[in-house]
Amino acid sequence: MTQIDPQDLSFDDWDEKNFPRQTVQDFDRVVEAAVSRRGFLGGVLAFGSGAAVMGTGLLKSGTAMAGTSRFAFDQLAPQTDGTVHVPAGYRWDTLVRWGDPLFSDAPAFDASNGIPTAGSDRVFGENTDGMELFHQSNTELLVVNSEYVNPKINLPAGQEGRPASASDVERLQNFQGVSVMEVTEDADGWKVVVDSPYNRRIHHRTPMVIDGPAAGHDLLKTDADPTGTASLGTFNNCGSGRTPWGTYLTCEENFNGYFGTTEELSLSDVHAAGFKRYGVSTKVDGGRYNYHGFDPRFDISKNPNEPHRAGYIVEIDPWNPDSTPVKHTALGRFKHENAAYALAPDGRVVVYMGDDERGEYMYKWVSAGVYVPGGDTSTLLSEGQLHVAKFNDDGTGIWLALTPEDTGMTEAEIAVFTRMAGTAVSATTMDRPEWIAVNPTAVEAYCCLTNNSRRGALDDDGNVRTNAAGEPMVPNAPNPREINRYGQIVRWRPHNDDHAASTFDWDLYVMAGNPTVHTDGPYAGSANINAGNLFNSPDGMQIDSTGLIWIQTDGDDDNEGDFAGMGNNQMLAGDPVTGEIRRFLTGPNGSEVTGLTWSADRRTMFVGIQHPSAPFPDGEGALPRSSIVVVKRDDNALLG
Ligand code: FEO
Ligand code: CA
Ligand code: CA
Ligand code: CA
Repeated sequence: MTQIDPQDLSFDDWDEKNFPRQTVQDFDRVVEAAVSRRGFLGGVLAFGSGAAVMGTGLLKSGTAMAGTSRFAFDQLAPQTDGTVHVPAGYRWDTLVRWGDPLFSDAPAFDASNGIPTAGSDRVFGENTDGMELFHQSNTELLVVNSEYVNPKINLPAGQEGRPASASDVERLQNFQGVSVMEVTEDADGWKVVVDSPYNRRIHHRTPMVIDGPAAGHDLLKTDADPTGTASLGTFNNCGSGRTPWGTYLTCEENFNGYFGTTEELSLSDVHAAGFKRYGVSTKVDGGRYNYHGFDPRFDISKNPNEPHRAGYIVEIDPWNPDSTPVKHTALGRFKHENAAYALAPDGRVVVYMGDDERGEYMYKWVSAGVYVPGGDTSTLLSEGQLHVAKFNDDGTGIWLALTPEDTGMTEAEIAVFTRMAGTAVSATTMDRPEWIAVNPTAVEAYCCLTNNSRRGALDDDGNVRTNAAGEPMVPNAPNPREINRYGQIVRWRPHNDDHAASTFDWDLYVMAGNPTVHTDGPYAGSANINAGNLFNSPDGMQIDSTGLIWIQTDGDDDNEGDFAGMGNNQMLAGDPVTGEIRRFLTGPNGSEVTGLTWSADRRTMFVGIQHPSAPFPDGEGALPRSSIVVVKRDDNALLG
């Protein structure tokens, strides 16, 4: 058992190392990139202008920002220590840590050894991520993703984080997935209701139903499930979503890392192309977690279709602990970050989704049926139309429908190989789409484009880096920066005030940057970035009921060089109208701040602290533990 080694690769770095993107030679596109860069320097894109207008638009609204702040708090300074900070007038406390019991028969957490395999499915999972709170009368349920595990702190020292037995695999599987837990507030603060009948752990072996256009297709059939409609487990549950009818959506992101092979492969062209595009390792004993060494379900030499059964949006009814989660293939298969719903004026359900990989795409799904409050919602997410985003340089965009006619693929193939469908219609390559948030106070939505170190980068031979489809990642209008270390947030407004519309206007809400290190140029960031509110790599995002944008970061926290003055990862609030952005909360060293939801009375915020390297929250000598913290105002006022 060892502490987290800061040198350990993040999943993203591991993926990039194992699946480096190919390069292509294309000098014209390099020239195009330079032109695009000049355009950015001249001024940010303005909303509704139909063009990149010099010096106008929301990001140049310095005068509107002065003295008209909507924020009820003073900006927090950047922090570099091992704990959580909030502004004066606010306080925080720990709600739950990885390994805390959901049931009274759970094993105790050992400060140096963690949790044993027996009972590892009775505790709060590791690496907390997306979460949503649901309430009915006096009951509040917090539903939370546990994205991945840190094998080195869960497996005996000397194993280098590789499972050496089926028991090791089972323990890792149990710490991931989704936790449903009742929470309550009393005079001592918030706590998990241990043994609540609603408490539930959903992990890598929990039975799931598969529905939608790919259900029952040959691509999803396995020896264990010849019907192709029933799978086990949900994987790498990253961001979250919710439906207006009160179900939870968990989003399968880096599912590829769980699969490997014990022997040389002889793959069909379809399987080979799919594994390449989605980054499933085809090297003998590759794969990140060595599940395949002990569980043939994860061995693609034996079950080449098993990876086709992961990478979906999964719907969970938190109010029925016996319900079977449903994998909705209609919403496509990719590295799903989160799922943000909106309702179209005619009642159709719209779900916005990002594919978090360098140079992949943004998607929108529109249901075939309409939502009727109190009506049957059981199949609303089963049938509809998937679209992919194409951004034009003039500030407009279009949602391209992924149809058999336009892609040359069947509906089932579009559902399973969604990335290929996006390529077939020439979607816009993006800088790693992370969370999308829909503004409840205006007909608009936002997406964090976290960073892309390969955008416009050349390899040693002078070739432009490509995405997994071989498309050169040259700068484009919504991703205008080469070697994008800081990230940006794109915003769009659908035409006709209808989220189901196929066209939209867009602009950049913010380009993160560092104007103290880079006095001008694209790395200085947009006008709403200043020495006081520096951050990089926007990732998590929610918009509260008042329309404030809460932005969480997952970036470089070394506080040096390009990142000097940014401190640890953090949560900031943004005003959608003035563009003002202000730091609200900072996380402990090494952590990402991810996952945000509110109590039913909106006087408490629940904030996720993922993968701290500092021994948070228990202090020196203890294992670092991903945790959810609660934040309140000292005067118990509303928090959005
Ligand atoms: Fe799991 Fe893209 O963050
Ligand atoms: Ca994320
Ligand atoms: Ca991230
Ligand atoms: Ca993370």
